[in-house]
Amino acid sequence: MKSALMTNYGSPELEFDHGRGSYLYTAGGEEYLDFAMGIAVNCLGHCHPTLVRALTEQAGKLWHTSNLYRIGQTERLARRLVDLTFADRAFFCNSGTEAVEAGFKIIRRYHHAKGNPQRKRIIAVSEAFHGRTLAPIAAAANPLHTEGFLVGDAGFDQVPFGDPDAIAAAISDTTAGIVIEPIQGEGGIRLVPQSYLEHLRQLCDQHGLVLMFDEVQCGLARSGTLYAYQQTGVSPDILVSAKGLGGGFPIGACLATEQVASVMVAGSHGSTFGGNPLAGAVGNAVLDEVTGPGFMDSLNDNARYLREQLQGLVASHPDKLEKITGAGLMIGVKCRINNGELIAELTRRKMLTVKAGGNSLRLLPALNVNRREIDQALQILDSALRNWQTA
Ligand SMILES: Cc1ncc(COP(=O)(O)O)c(C=O)c1O
Repeated sequence: MKSALMTNYGSPELEFDHGRGSYLYTAGGEEYLDFAMGIAVNCLGHCHPTLVRALTEQAGKLWHTSNLYRIGQTERLARRLVDLTFADRAFFCNSGTEAVEAGFKIIRRYHHAKGNPQRKRIIAVSEAFHGRTLAPIAAAANPLHTEGFLVGDAGFDQVPFGDPDAIAAAISDTTAGIVIEPIQGEGGIRLVPQSYLEHLRQLCDQHGLVLMFDEVQCGLARSGTLYAYQQTGVSPDILVSAKGLGGGFPIGACLATEQVASVMVAGSHGSTFGGNPLAGAVGNAVLDEVTGPGFMDSLNDNARYLREQLQGLVASHPDKLEKITGAGLMIGVKCRINNGELIAELTRRKMLTVKAGGNSLRLLPALNVNRREIDQALQILDSALRNWQTA
């Protein structure tokens, strides 16, 4: 039957009925190994018992009250995120793009409150992705995403990825801040060099700019630390998180230092659903697991093993694969063959992966993926590559 959905997602055919851990199942019982995890969302795999329990217990108690009242679960989640990061304050919303919007608003409001209302422009880097609402598409300025949608440049400038001179040259007396993904996701799983992040921090301090890290994709332990910036020694003023934070339940967070967050006075921003009791309960349950004993060690052991084995695959298929990128369990496989065709072949072999820029394949397994599942993924990938001529 013809779908009544808008066609912005094309017309996917595959549909799943249920999921468990690293596997998804069709209604007909076909099993797929999921190394896409809802594009880095289901961080604990499908239907993790701790998350199912947290959600159903909360659902039987209280779903939603609005932010006109205190929400215990959400207060607790904010406190935990603040204690685990550079931040002093948290704002909750329902998605990555909303968290980015909140961050952009705080950047502008900060300068407005300091008596510099002309400072509105925000610098972003090329091949970035910050979401699909108007300000994030203006920031990333990807013509595929902006065509027909924007009025002017909406107050954003772009500089080439990783070029320290270009970013210094782009700063003017109307610049308010800089936004960057410490590991670019959609752009091709590209690590931003530490020296470049240090340079950005220096520039922001020198010019009084706000530094914002978009960790919607690389955050929540995906990179091997709770947030990727924690491996760099460079702290932002604002950090946005979403995807894995709810393990599949929609939640976004904008974390900030007191200095910048203090401009968000009563009435300056809000969200009807943001940080409701259900989201708070699931977010806390995700943190219970991810910060639990041994979780990060096991994640990093598995990540090291997977990356080593993938390097081996690059060595044995040098005509088809170029290199492995990323950090932790946020892995890019830069291809020499067409990435879309490889993804389609892997799907035929019942393994799910995602495309990224730079002709890359993204591997985003559950953070609690085990060795057996990793070996299965490697075996599927290897046999797809070995049989490529006949694929
Ligand atoms: C780095 C980054 N920022 C923002 C977003 C937008 O998140 P959402 O799709 O939840 O709005 C994404 C989504 O892929 C992302 O990867």
